[in-house]
Amino acid sequence: MNGSTERDERPGRTELGRSLLDNGFMTSDWAPAFEAVPRAAFLPGLMWPHDPTTGRAVTVNRTDDPAAWWGYADSNVPIVTQWDDGRHTGTEPGGVFTSSSSMPSVVFSMLADLDVHPGQSVLEIGTGTGWNAALLAHRVGAGNVVSVELDPAVSEGARQALRHFGYRDVRVITGDGLLGYPPAAPYDRVIATCGLRSGMFNWVRQTAPGGIVVVPWGTYFGYTEATARLVVAADGTSASGHFTRPVNFMRMRSQRLARPEHSSYVPAQGMGDAVRSTTTVTEAEFLTGSYDVEAFAVGLRVPDCTHTPDRKRDGKRPVWFYSLTDMSWAVVIFRDSGKEATVHQSGNRRLWDEVEAAFRWWLGQGRPDFDRFGLTVTADRQVPWLDDPSNVLSG
Ligand SMILES: C[S@@+](CC[C@H](N)C(=O)[O-])C[C@H]1O[C@@H](n2cnc3c(N)ncnc32)[C@H](O)[C@@H]1O
Repeated sequence: MNGSTERDERPGRTELGRSLLDNGFMTSDWAPAFEAVPRAAFLPGLMWPHDPTTGRAVTVNRTDDPAAWWGYADSNVPIVTQWDDGRHTGTEPGGVFTSSSSMPSVVFSMLADLDVHPGQSVLEIGTGTGWNAALLAHRVGAGNVVSVELDPAVSEGARQALRHFGYRDVRVITGDGLLGYPPAAPYDRVIATCGLRSGMFNWVRQTAPGGIVVVPWGTYFGYTEATARLVVAADGTSASGHFTRPVNFMRMRSQRLARPEHSSYVPAQGMGDAVRSTTTVTEAEFLTGSYDVEAFAVGLRVPDCTHTPDRKRDGKRPVWFYSLTDMSWAVVIFRDSGKEATVHQSGNRRLWDEVEAAFRWWLGQGRPDFDRFGLTVTADRQVPWLDDPSNVLSG
């Protein structure tokens, strides 16, 4: 069946498989697919893996440095395969990463959430390298996998890699995954491997009752997303389920956040007409780093708002908040001195008041983790909830 690749038996690969199993990222039923479908078979010669020691992408070329190339292919790191929607040239990392091979631990956690069985039909959104589609093909049969990729060059690369590997029956469709792919519907499972903010009802509509939709979902408040695992209702008019764990995916192209231009919100000098107050919320409790559940939770209750922590200067850390629906803004200035933080708010919305109320609500609920939250999607709404679909969160 599969065209096996050179050096399939590599200690690094065996080690990666063992660590994915031992750390609970890969369930044992996925081990045969991991064995049979090497990630390396879907990676380009020139790639930009994330270097965990520097936190940056590094250039790795298989011809120049095969040991590094194979080492990264077998590591639990994300690997960028395209920059700047394909406009980037040269070997140095580009500006914005726009296609990648996701971290193996994330890939297998999401496949476990999908709970997919041999013979079931699967729609994947975001083909990328084609590795995830190949893992699915190993599980359900190549003819049962449809994968949609927006970028024509990326989809053609994946098509070729899948064909070369022996999975020519996987259908790679070039198009907007938001539309799903109606000709092959209904699907038993849908899995998105790019982040979504809204608009997943097409997938619900194209999934059989009782089917499962797995999608990285978040708000515009911050970068942290969580995997939503939605079960389609018997009447097909809705899908609902808990989030499982935090993730951080590149967003669907049409849902990327256009970063608000600071200078169009805030006067160049001073704070303009902003109203001044203070808050007892501290920097340590509000900014806890990446994968922060508090930012995820605040985003669920404060719609159309984004925030940016600024650099710390002279013991002061400003955090800026911008409304995405009007020109309201706010800034909180946390101080190392231990004095209460100063707040300035301008515009129709009192953004910090909204954020602080949501943050205190989250504290008051006992700091619920990601998996206590859930989402219900219908034709015209997506409603987040806590613990139970009836306990909806209003903005
Ligand atoms: C993280 S990569 C996917 C990784 C992939 N599943 C793999 O196994 O390598 C995300 C992909 O989503 C694609 N994408 C972004 N917006 C899309 C859209 N609207 N429809 C389909 N694909 C999209 C990107 O071009 C990118 O290739």
